[in-house]
Formats: sequence, structure tokens, C-alpha cells
Amino acid sequence: MTSHNHSKSSIKHVAIIMDGNGRWAGKRGRSRVWGHIRGSRNVTNIVEDAVQLGLKSLTLYTFSTENWSRPLTEVNTIFKLLKKFLVGERKRILKNHIRFRIIGDISSLSEKTRKIITDLESETKKSEGLNLTLAFGYGGRSEIVKSVNKFIEKNPCKHISEEELASYLMTPDCGDVDLMIRTGGDRRISNFLLWQMAYAELFFTSTMWPDFTSTEFRNIIESVSQRERRFGFIGSTENLQKSADQAVLNKRKFVEKAGE
Ligand code: FPP
Repeated sequence: MTSHNHSKSSIKHVAIIMDGNGRWAGKRGRSRVWGHIRGSRNVTNIVEDAVQLGLKSLTLYTFSTENWSRPLTEVNTIFKLLKKFLVGERKRILKNHIRFRIIGDISSLSEKTRKIITDLESETKKSEGLNLTLAFGYGGRSEIVKSVNKFIEKNPCKHISEEELASYLMTPDCGDVDLMIRTGGDRRISNFLLWQMAYAELFFTSTMWPDFTSTEFRNIIESVSQRERRFGFIGSTENLQKSADQAVLNKRKFVEKAGE
């Protein structure tokens, strides 16, 4: 499939909760750390697929604020894997014109890793390919609160609108999430991209993240696009937003009428 075909797909922004590394390793009698190593290898594959599919944005949950409760050796491994991923993927990221970004709180990472991140972010700032965002030390509620506070700092005593809030989020140019996939069998959103997922299709698979293949990824996108096409006009995120806006207008008219 060419990226040309897929640019017509209604799925532009995919978000993934990459769950199940620990259990995957446990089933094989290996340590959780091993699961994360294999999991991070799979990130490379799925990013490559997202590029080939012509997606506009891919946002991956790499480390949540809740993950801080894990044993420190495990946390340390994930930090190290992030650094390794960045160093290893740099060339490919540049070659594929990927715009790279990390959202969340990276203050706990080493200075060296933070520099690798900021360098790669600024190097790819103008890239026009896939928006690749890693959510690290990220929480959805915290993102919303931070955005509102930033707005208040600039606009004291003003009320914030939905559009303004959206423009103050950490990924204002990635748009709403069209499809959220969670591997590992749990059916939760876990504080991921709460605002952006308001109209997202949700897909939960029992596949553990290290086993999540290109084929499954492509099949999910294909079946969700078909689901959307069936719903036609009201199906896409954009149109859902439009009908939500229409509902607000209708309600206003109705209330006006009732008051006459
Ligand atoms: C969930 O597995 C996964 C995470 C907590 C983090 C995701 C991390 C990776 C995919 C590896 C790091 C990748 C990069 C690019 C830095 P889990 O431990 O919650 O699995 P479990 O539910 O089976 O315990």
C-alpha cells in the first residue's frame, strides 16, 4: 500500500499504549527488564510502519507518571532504553523527515539524555513527515492543568475556550487522536491524551507489546477506517466535532425558543 492511498484515510493520528512487556517476559521466564528491551525494539518497527502508512501523527506512551511506582532498576532500564532508542534512531528519523518530540516531564532524565532530546527536537522542528511524539513522564490531567495555567499567565482574568485550550496543549499541531490502540489486554485509557481522545476510536488487543506486529497494526487501521467509512458523514473525528458544535447551536436555539 502506498502512503498516497492512506493519506485519504480518516485515520491521521494514532496513539498507542504499549502495555504488556513485563508479562511477555514473565511468561518466558525472563526479567521484566528483558521485556522492555524487546518492547523498545518493537517501537522501531511500528514507527517504520507509521511512516510507510503515511500517518500524520503517532504518539506513544513510553512512561507514565504512575510508572514511577515501579522498582528503580526497572525505571532506570526504561530511561536507558529511551536514550539508546534516540541515539539508534537518529539517522532514520532524519532520513524519514520525522518530526520528533517528547511530551511530559523529562526533568528526571540525565543532562546528557535531555540534550540528545532537545537537539533532535530542534533538528527536526521543520520536518514535514510523521509527527512522532513520545509521552514520557506524561499524564493527561497534568497536561490539561499545565495548559490552562499557561493560558492564565498570559491572559489573566480571562475565561479559556476549547479552541484556546487545544492550542496550549503540548502537541497543538497533531490534532485530535483518531485511533487509540492499547496492547496487553487491559481496557483503560490510563490518563493518556485525555483531551485529544475525546472522539477517538478505541481498540484494545490482548497481544502483548513485544508481539504486536506490523500486520496487526495495519489490520487494526484498515478495520477502523472501514468502520468509519460505514458511518459516513458522522463517522470521522472532524465530523464528530462538527456535530458536537451543531448540537451546541441547536441547544442554544431551543433554549431561545423556549424563552419566547
Ligand atoms: C508497559 O509494559 C510498558 C511500559 C511501562 C513502558 C513502555 C516502554 C517500552 C515499550 C520500552 C521503552 C521504549 C522506548 C522507545 C524508550 P508493562 O511493564 O506495564 O507490562 P505489564 O503490564 O505486563 O507489567
